[in-house]
Amino acid sequence: MNVLQSGPYHIEDTSHILSPGLVIFADIVEQNILEMVRIAKDAGRLRPHCKTHKMSEVVKLQLQHGIAKHKCATFAEAEMLADAGIEDIMLAYNPVGPHVPRCVQFAQEYPKVHFSVTADHEKPLTELNDSCVAAQIKMEVLLDVDTGLHRTGTPITSKEALRLYELLVDLPGIVPGGLHLYDGQNHQVDLVDRKAAVDVAYGDACNLAKQLDQHGWPVPRLVVGGTGSFPIFADFDDDRLELSPGTSVFHDTGYKSNFPDLDFNPASVLITRVVSRCHDDRLTLDAGNKSVASDPPFGTRLFFPDLPDAEHIIHNEEHLVLKTDQAVNYQPGDVLLGIPRHACPTSALHRTADVVRGGKVVEQWTVTARDRKINI
Ligand SMILES: Cc1ncc(COP(=O)(O)O)c(C=O)c1O
Repeated sequence: MNVLQSGPYHIEDTSHILSPGLVIFADIVEQNILEMVRIAKDAGRLRPHCKTHKMSEVVKLQLQHGIAKHKCATFAEAEMLADAGIEDIMLAYNPVGPHVPRCVQFAQEYPKVHFSVTADHEKPLTELNDSCVAAQIKMEVLLDVDTGLHRTGTPITSKEALRLYELLVDLPGIVPGGLHLYDGQNHQVDLVDRKAAVDVAYGDACNLAKQLDQHGWPVPRLVVGGTGSFPIFADFDDDRLELSPGTSVFHDTGYKSNFPDLDFNPASVLITRVVSRCHDDRLTLDAGNKSVASDPPFGTRLFFPDLPDAEHIIHNEEHLVLKTDQAVNYQPGDVLLGIPRHACPTSALHRTADVVRGGKVVEQWTVTARDRKINI
């Protein structure tokens, strides 16, 4: 038996866990889901983004807690959600090119699903309308608005936002679905600063919605927020709000340090083994950059609760070299647990994850939507 006790993480026997391996602590996932619902005040106000986990078992756990509306970024995620029993799916990624007919195909293959997408430009919007008209269906589209991330979205205070929304209303194959606002720029560590920024974004969304209301154009929902901002949006008494955190269900060390006010805990970790101790102050692990998200800066990608002093020296495809005074206490084959800085791309690097409950590996979950395409 190889017992692992690392910080709060306990596994009775790691001997059969292949490394580098993704391990999900299901009890922590459930605590994170409960915390999401507590913050939202009602599970019906949540529309979490599934990009973080991409796994139907996580979706089913969320469903058990009353979270029935979901958000995604790819058709594979949409299919994974639909196959897991979700009947309200929003593709929050403006469809272009061959993804336009894929929208129609998805709607036809999953007629029971209320499927919506986003748009921020006339060209793909009219293409989508033409495809819908040809297929004799109608599709709900939310206007994607920009509140400062400057990634996608029509500037929220622009006249163009009104013009595009009018187009949503006028196009015969389109049903206007409201506004989509992802404020990923609101990562202020200080809650007071974050709250001030979210207040401005929400105020702008309300102003725009009010103008749309005055034209008599339906604005059924405002889909807003990520992990750091949804608790702030949750405090507004507004029936149209749908809150869309993603990372919180797994959480990671990036958000743990960025949002000290939040009570979510990292639930997905990497099990890695020492493969070499070529120097007394070095440990080489099998946690290469093909097993852990490498978009965070070098040196921060994995945190080891048992080696808080570890300095990252080399990070190659299959190797992570650490410099630590504790290296002499380890030998090849020893297991270490690392917590990713960024959970979401880490999930996508693994086909399956071992799932731990009560200290035991009890099952494996498939990361179904890591592929770009499943059937559609
Ligand atoms: C459109 C959209 N909505 C929601 C989220 C969830 O944000 P977070 O991961 O900060 O919870 C993301 C994250 O990338 C996103 O791109």
